[in-house]
Amino acid sequence: MKAFVVDKYKKNGPVRLCGMPDPDIGADDVLVRIHAAAINLLDSKIRNGEFKLFLPYRPPFILGHDLAGTVIRTGSNVRQFKAGDEVYARPRDGRAGTFAEMIAVDAADLALKPASLSMEEAASIPLVGLTAWQALVEVGNVKPGQKVFIQAGSGGVGTFAIQLAKHLGATVATTTSAVNSELVKSLGADVVIDYKTQDFEQLLSGYDLVLNSQDAATLAKSLKILGQGGKLISISGPPDVPFAKSLGLNPFLRFVMRMLSRSIVKAAKRRDVDYAFLFMRAEGSQLAQITKLIDDGVIRTVVDKVFPFAQTEEALAYVETVRAKGKVVVKVL
Ligand SMILES: NC(=O)c1ccc[n+]([C@@H]2O[C@H](COP(=O)([O-])OP(=O)(O)OC[C@H]3O[C@@H](n4cnc5c(N)ncnc54)[C@H](OP(=O)(O)O)[C@@H]3O)[C@@H](O)[C@H]2O)c1
Repeated sequence: MKAFVVDKYKKNGPVRLCGMPDPDIGADDVLVRIHAAAINLLDSKIRNGEFKLFLPYRPPFILGHDLAGTVIRTGSNVRQFKAGDEVYARPRDGRAGTFAEMIAVDAADLALKPASLSMEEAASIPLVGLTAWQALVEVGNVKPGQKVFIQAGSGGVGTFAIQLAKHLGATVATTTSAVNSELVKSLGADVVIDYKTQDFEQLLSGYDLVLNSQDAATLAKSLKILGQGGKLISISGPPDVPFAKSLGLNPFLRFVMRMLSRSIVKAAKRRDVDYAFLFMRAEGSQLAQITKLIDDGVIRTVVDKVFPFAQTEEALAYVETVRAKGKVVVKVL
C-alpha cells in the first residue's frame, strides 16, 4: 500500500510517499481502508522528534492520527464491527499511521462514523473530539451554569470544545483573532476576545475551567481568571507527574516532568486551583458518544481545507502555520 513515512526524526523534515507492506491484523484488530485522514500538530511534533522520549516510533514509520474509512476485515475476537462498516478513529499511541491506504486498528479505538458526515468531515473529528471530551467531561466534569474559557476557539480543538462546552450547559469564553470572531460566535461562544488587541486576563474572572492550548505565558495568565477550586487543564504542557506515572515512565523522566511542571503546580496550589496536563488517548466508547452528538445535530464539523493524498506534506505545512480554521484533511480514496 501507499503511505507517507518519516525516515528520520528531524525538525520540519520531509515525509516520503512510498510503498509499505499491507498491515497484518491481530485477533482484536480491524483492518480499515482509509478514505480520509486529518492532520494534527501532533504529527509535526512526532516527526520533529519532540515526543520520542515517551512516544518512541522507530523510523521509518507511517505518520497520521485520524482516520475515516470502511472496514475490510476483522480479527477473530472482534464482534462489534463487520466488513463494510463505515468507521472513524484516533488509533492508540504506538499504532498511529493514518497517512496510508490501510491501517490495522484495535477495535476498542474505533467507532461507527456519524452517518450524517462525509468521510472527510468524519476524519476531522476523532483526535480533537476526544481531546475536548476528555478535558471537559472526563477531567473537567463541566456542569450547567459553569464558566469555561477555551483558548484558540477557531482551531481544531477549539471549534469542537466550544460546542461541547455549550452542550454541557456552560457559558463559554474564547480567544481568536478578529477574522474568526463570527465563526466562534456561530459555534456558541458567549464571550469572544481578540487575543491580538485584548488581554483575556483583564476581562475574565471567576471561571471554573480553562482549557489551555497555548504557551507558558498564557498558561500563567490563565490561573488568574479561575475562581477558587477551578481547574486549569493544559493540552500544550507542561507535562506533570500524574501523566508520567500514567505512561509508566522511569524515575528520571518522572523527575524531569516534576521539574517542568513545578512552577505551575505550585502557583495553582497557592490559588487553590487544580492543574492537570492532559494527553488525549484513543477511546472508541467516547467516540461513539460523539457520533451520537454529531448525528443529533449538537456538534458540527469545521473543515478548513481538504488536500489530495499526494499533497499530505503541503497539508502538514499548512497546519504548521497555526492559522487553520478548524481542521485540515487529506482525501486518501
Ligand atoms: N495534549 C493533547 O492531547 C492535545 C490534543 C490536541 C491538540 N493539542 C495541542 O493543542 C494545541 C492546539 O491544537 P489545535 O489542533 O487546536 O491547533 P490548530 O487547529 O492548529 O490551531 C489553529 C488556530 O489557533 C489560533 N491561534 C493561533 N495563535 C493563537 C493565540 N495566541 N491565541 C488564540 N488563538 C490562536 C488560530 O486562530 P487565528 O488564525 O484567529 O489566530 C487558528 O485558528 C497544539 O499545540 C496541539 O499540539 C494537544
